[in-house]
Amino acid sequence: MASSLLSTGLGPLALRSPIIAASGTVGSVWEWAQVADMAPFGAAVAKSVAPEPWPGREPPRLAPLATGMLNGIGIQNPGLDRWVSEIAPRIPTLGVPVWGSAVAVDVAGFARVAEGLSGTGVAAIEVNLSCPNLDDDVMFSFDPMLSRAVVEAVTAATTLPIGAKLSPNTPNPVEVARVCVDAGAAFLVLTNTALGYGVDSQTRRPLLSGGVGGYSGPGLKPLSLRVVHEVATELPEAVIVGCGGVATGSDVVEYLLAGASAVEVGTTLLAEPGAGSRIMRELRHQLRRLGAETVTELVGAVKPW
Ligand SMILES: Cc1cc2nc3c(=O)[nH]c(=O)nc-3n(C[C@H](O)[C@H](O)[C@H](O)COP(=O)(O)O)c2cc1C
Repeated sequence: MASSLLSTGLGPLALRSPIIAASGTVGSVWEWAQVADMAPFGAAVAKSVAPEPWPGREPPRLAPLATGMLNGIGIQNPGLDRWVSEIAPRIPTLGVPVWGSAVAVDVAGFARVAEGLSGTGVAAIEVNLSCPNLDDDVMFSFDPMLSRAVVEAVTAATTLPIGAKLSPNTPNPVEVARVCVDAGAAFLVLTNTALGYGVDSQTRRPLLSGGVGGYSGPGLKPLSLRVVHEVATELPEAVIVGCGGVATGSDVVEYLLAGASAVEVGTTLLAEPGAGSRIMRELRHQLRRLGAETVTELVGAVKPW
């Protein structure tokens, strides 16, 4: 799979492919690797892990929609210690670079997870800034000061490359992206799910036990692309991983043109765990169609009207 046509880079990270499996949609990567070909992927991101185990929310926590889905899993995870002892030892056998994903309810918790993930074999760590900060119930990525504090603490706790993952609802994404880059993030992941809410007309209840959840899938693409576009335009030095609604090779090209150096695929892999081979085939076709000799020449190459 290694090929200069498809290889890309994210600061210090070299990737054999611009397609990455998104956190929370491929389990701890190991389960998914039993049923899917890893060759199309440049990396796979494990489910976010917190300093302590989180039980997640009560069911129902997933709701398929006409386009995409809502989830309110509540970031169920086994906690750092079990992750390190049970999940990390499998990483070398998976055939794909695995990234960790850190989540916590306070700055110190993020740093603890980053430190604990270092040395486990993960190639990078995403910092999930798109979860609520329980101290004041605001998402970390809504607040530039909090985002800076988390990224600074995490980069002080590990030498691994750090990716800051923002919410598409972030009111000032360029400002938050800037402080994350200044604080040492090697790349930005744009974006996580959008806030969403659904109602079951039969039961008159919300679709999710927690009410508001995260919307993902095809309808998210224009929202995430907007964030990629604005950050790439205003902050040309930022290294961007696009994420939101990627289902086809054409979607990958759209994110590259808007300014992403790689893309993550989430909801598509839940419905079609083997989608990587298809998306890669489509991407090769798109590259031929565009006369592109490398993926990287398309990054940010959108034309003005
Ligand atoms: C069921 C589910 C669980 C998720 N869990 C996480 C998570 O633990 N950490 C995280 O950073 N993102 C999580 N996400 C967000 C995805 O990684 C991705 O950012 C989002 O779904 C948008 O991409 P998509 O439209 O391709 O699915 C989850 C998404 C879904 C659908």
